[in-house]
Amino acid sequence: MVNQMTKLNWAGFSKKSPEERIAFLENHQLLNPEEQEALAQHQVLSLEIANQMAENVIGTHSLPLALVPDFLIDGKNYQVTFVTEEPSVVAAASFAAKIIKRSGGFQTRVHDRKMIGQVALFDVPDKEQAVQNILQKSASLLSLANEAHPSIVKRGGGAREVKAEIKDNFIIVYLTVDTQEAMGANMVNTMMEALAPTLEEVSGGQSLMAILSNYATESLVTAECAVDLRFLSRKQEEAHYLARKMELASQLAQIDPYRASTHNKGIFNGIDALVMATGNDWRAIEAGCHAYACQDGQYRGLSTWTFDEAEHCLRGSLTLPMPIATKGGSIGLNPTVQIAHDLLGHPSARELASIITSVGLAQNFAALKALTSTGIQAGHMKLQAKSLALLAGARETELGQLVPQLLHAKHLNLETAQAILQDLRNHKN
Ligand code: HMG
Repeated sequence: MVNQMTKLNWAGFSKKSPEERIAFLENHQLLNPEEQEALAQHQVLSLEIANQMAENVIGTHSLPLALVPDFLIDGKNYQVTFVTEEPSVVAAASFAAKIIKRSGGFQTRVHDRKMIGQVALFDVPDKEQAVQNILQKSASLLSLANEAHPSIVKRGGGAREVKAEIKDNFIIVYLTVDTQEAMGANMVNTMMEALAPTLEEVSGGQSLMAILSNYATESLVTAECAVDLRFLSRKQEEAHYLARKMELASQLAQIDPYRASTHNKGIFNGIDALVMATGNDWRAIEAGCHAYACQDGQYRGLSTWTFDEAEHCLRGSLTLPMPIATKGGSIGLNPTVQIAHDLLGHPSARELASIITSVGLAQNFAALKALTSTGIQAGHMKLQAKSLALLAGARETELGQLVPQLLHAKHLNLETAQAILQDLRNHKN
């Protein structure tokens, strides 16, 4: 496999056919021959494996698998796969990845990587006393949790801390667990269920439920970048104006939940696409991040952008709970997921969390840049015009003339594309 420092020339990758793209990846040792064959022959998830993954299976459901080349993150290049049905998401991410790479790439920080489980106790006769009793028994509760899942202790992980809080009628006991490379839902749930009877005994109350929390505040990751203003516009004044508008767009998402929701949706265009491609639980990631977006009681934009006039750049930052896995669940079962991990160079769970957060920031950058400059429809229309032109039979060399004419035509459809193409060819002859 090509290592992450190798420089590859991706120019024209988007203009190739899917077959040519697969061949390019194999020629550059990004795919092995079996993976190349599997993609070329559409040998993806078999019914047999699908039937092991869910219940009452009657088929498999396909979505486009796309490649976004060259995300430069913490000094390494990553080839990122997206599973998405939405046009322009991959184009936007590729565009942003390229600009941010030229501006020095992303820098990330994994604050911590632990999961949280909770047992909610009710009908506790003396809550203050019960909290004290529980905390005094922390060491034996940690041992009990670890005995319920000894394999994680062997791998260097395990239960780390017990906390207890009174919230209204409940005592809630929180356990933090180092789950190593796994997302750890099963592991944490097993531990919490093992603790529940002892917690009932110690508190004198009843356990209402014992379950993992998706609000993974002990798995925060920050991605940052500083986009050189020359990539916003070659004209300095225009670049400054656009940087200011992008900063204002970021502020708008902090104060207006209607905008914040759409702002964050744009971030998840990339995050969900990569979380799905890598076989992770995107509902868990969405739930945790949206809870984090309203940590102070108001739903806010997850990313921030600031115009650094002195350093002549636009600074982006995104912090998210990212309890992502590289082992466990369906990751080892689905062959396409294996290809995604191969193309990424088999990152660790921490590294993958950094990649996913960086992808979210890149996706947000592209959306905000489009929104505050040309508007979002221009990019969509341009992509649509390009695919209509290709569908009409245009050659690569004809796109330069055909696409602008098509964009100015009254009706953006296949018939118009065919008519303009015919006209162009007639005039050439
Ligand atoms: P452009 O400047 O017209 O692009 O932008 P270009 O044709 O000059 O190409 C520049 C580069 O973009 C290319 O470089 C590619 O890297 C990439 P090249 O390879 O040519 O050297 N690129 C593509 N990559 C793959 N396939 C393509 C392709 N086209 C360009 N077909 C672009 C065009 C679409 C990139 C830009 O308009 C854009 O980023 N728009 C934003 C699109 C977006 O965010 N879409 C998501 C759906 S909208 C939404 O759901 C979210 C939103 O509501 C969130 C929010 O409100 O915050 C917007």
